[in-house]
Amino acid sequence: MKEFILALDQGTTSSRAILFDKQGGIENVAQKEFTQFFPQSGWVEHDAQEIWSTQLAVLTEVIAKANIKLEAIKAIGITNQRETTIVWNRKTGLPIYNAIVWQDRRTADYCKAIAERGLERLIQEKTGLLIDAYFSASKINWILNHVPDARQLAEQGDLAFGTVDSWLVYNLTNGAKHITDVSNASRTLLFNINTLTWDQELLDIFEIPASMLPTVCASSEIYGETSTELSSKAIPIAGIAGDQQAALFGQLCTQEGMVKNTYGTGCFLLMNIGQKPVISTNKLVTTVAWKIGNEVSYALEGSIFIGGAVVQWLRDELGIIKKSEDIEPLAMRVSDTNGVYVVPAFSGLGAPHWNPEARGTIVGLSRGSNDAHIARAALESIAYQTHDILKAMEMDAKAPIKELRVDGGATQNNFLMQFQAEILQTKVIRPAVTETTALGAAFLAGLAVGFWKDIEELKALWKEDKTFTHTTEKNYDVQLREWKRATDTVKFWADY
Ligand code: G3P
Repeated sequence: MKEFILALDQGTTSSRAILFDKQGGIENVAQKEFTQFFPQSGWVEHDAQEIWSTQLAVLTEVIAKANIKLEAIKAIGITNQRETTIVWNRKTGLPIYNAIVWQDRRTADYCKAIAERGLERLIQEKTGLLIDAYFSASKINWILNHVPDARQLAEQGDLAFGTVDSWLVYNLTNGAKHITDVSNASRTLLFNINTLTWDQELLDIFEIPASMLPTVCASSEIYGETSTELSSKAIPIAGIAGDQQAALFGQLCTQEGMVKNTYGTGCFLLMNIGQKPVISTNKLVTTVAWKIGNEVSYALEGSIFIGGAVVQWLRDELGIIKKSEDIEPLAMRVSDTNGVYVVPAFSGLGAPHWNPEARGTIVGLSRGSNDAHIARAALESIAYQTHDILKAMEMDAKAPIKELRVDGGATQNNFLMQFQAEILQTKVIRPAVTETTALGAAFLAGLAVGFWKDIEELKALWKEDKTFTHTTEKNYDVQLREWKRATDTVKFWADY
């Protein structure tokens, strides 16, 4: 009987289930999109029940499509959109408010007030993070202060907090397990990445009762089994990692200095920095990459809030393309942007700027600017933002980065990948399996149940599809200077 690992990839816009075989190949995929709620400007919510129901639906669907027996699934690995905050009632198992999504900026002022208390350094040393609405702590605080009776219920021990991984495990085990893994915990602003424990001083700062928190586990271990109320045979749940850390693992960036970029809704660059946390001096964050056995790996991360989403914006809001794939031929219709720069700061600027008030702009328009120039500038903005983070990483690492492994939907765009290699002057490598996030979760689960023996075995499964190298003698200094002017303009507008 052929055997599989099932990866559940709960992302920002869709829930997916992917079956991987022993060679790391994809046997089958099921995917469902779910509703995005934008109740006010800068607010983004999901219905936590819909997250669960779509995830369960794709789990069932992928098994049916592959026509396999439950016995063939040796373990489940979970990976998820990170920071997104769910608070539920332990007695009813029901969420008390919608999930507040990582992109949500409603707590920006609250975070500013915390920073003004002079707590930035303490918080960065403990958590590796900067004080920002992106991370979970301020979102939990908001729910406790705005949902009727929530604070009292929390103080009585009746409320549970979890990132999406916790919520899925809670439901998959029918309420038996309230857990998370170190990589997800490290995105909350409440977790001390040096001691690998929840930190009481941080809980006091954000006014969050410790009783709400999940138990923190490793990223690769058998946590429990799926409830037999869901499936006739219990399947071990054996891997959990936040999606960006899972992608770093799926790309086999297991050596210090290796870097990956995932081009999804946003873009997330992570560099493996080995077994000790190093605090960035260039506005990157330090995060736990994974814990396998007793070994903990850390990463430096730069998060770009709008990456591939700029293409959706061209499609859905401006209507200058019909399908996302149309952007490549449109952008290639012109040989350059004719001085146009798009800065897609739709929900503020992430690393290395961290400006929550920033909003998007297009600069350099002239009478001859057309849809192709704007499309090209929008695509190039993804590469420029990546460039800025990679340069910050090189400064932190005090060494040039020799290659960038890439994954995610937009890596199919050859123009973007080539442009990325040109402006970075670095090799850009696209693997054969670009479902790296799900693959990473499958690898973590498979290691825990002995489906794969060790990391060396996994390394042999990683295959390259294409390497993009810097081919021309062209120098991009002028464009990079102009891009900087464009981002400075956005910041000036925000801070004015
Ligand atoms: O930190 C947010 C990140 O985990 C979201 O990833 O792929 O769902 O956009 P994605």
